[in-house]
Amino acid sequence: MITRLQGRTAVITGAASGIGLATARRLAAEGARVVCVDLDAENGAKAAAEVNGRFIQADVTDEEAVRAVYEEAVDAYGRLDIAFNNAGISPPDDDSILTTGLAAWRRVQEVNLTSVYLCCKYAIPHMRRHGKGSIINTASFVAVMGAATSQISYSASKGGVLAMSRELGVQFAREGIRVNALCPGPVNTPLLRELFAKDPERAARRLVHVPMGRFAEADEIAAAVAFLASDDASFITANTFLVDGGISGAYVTPE
Ligand SMILES: NC(=O)c1ccc[n+]([C@@H]2O[C@H](COP(=O)([O-])OP(=O)(O)OC[C@H]3O[C@@H](n4cnc5c(N)ncnc54)[C@H](O)[C@@H]3O)[C@@H](O)[C@H]2O)c1
Repeated sequence: MITRLQGRTAVITGAASGIGLATARRLAAEGARVVCVDLDAENGAKAAAEVNGRFIQADVTDEEAVRAVYEEAVDAYGRLDIAFNNAGISPPDDDSILTTGLAAWRRVQEVNLTSVYLCCKYAIPHMRRHGKGSIINTASFVAVMGAATSQISYSASKGGVLAMSRELGVQFAREGIRVNALCPGPVNTPLLRELFAKDPERAARRLVHVPMGRFAEADEIAAAVAFLASDDASFITANTFLVDGGISGAYVTPE
């Protein structure tokens, strides 16, 4: 395994599961010291133990908790190099605009968008101190494409993450801090598997739009995060980084 992240400190939110967990493993394998942040104490602690890192239980919508996460990371490891702001939710009561209530709308905005604002707000000052850093914010392919099967607040929140990441990338470019929005296509997570195992027609309706004819594996998303985190991506900032099997480029897909 390449060790391009040797000596770097990474804070990953939503590290207990899915993309965050795969990324914790990948960044640690490339030499980073990893701080795993999640609401889920049991799986978060398990993830941290597995990567020989540190677990901090925190709700990423809580300003004081987020501020404390980066303080603790820097106190423990001396610096902050990588922030992967990845925690997010996609609850069933976020649906068509016609049926989604204000409480459901607000909850998704808080967890998916306000949390990224807070994480960037409190990570950037630590990075400015040593004039270097890489922030990767998890958006989604739905930030750049519309779906008739709407999750209205989710899509709007990811559009917000994309625009905010671009703006921060531009603002801090001359200070050595890169900020990119990672836009995964649909990923083969337990949630997605369970949903589509029950309803193969629903899976097929989505898969037809993916030129590669399959969903992503979490490891494939983690590999993209490791790249963006590393100096191999030294000229990449304010970018819409799509890892989507070609979905966003497709009109007609192969049979
Ligand atoms: N899975 C996909 O198909 C897909 C596609 C595009 C984008 N994404 C995005 O990728 C990110 C990760 O998704 P995943 O599929 O790995 O999801 P997941 O549900 O497997 O993991 C998300 C983690 O975030 C944590 N979390 C949720 N709310 C939190 C909060 N308030 N504070 C702290 N932690 C919290 C959860 O406990 C969980 O461990 C999300 O932002 C999601 O929107 C996922």
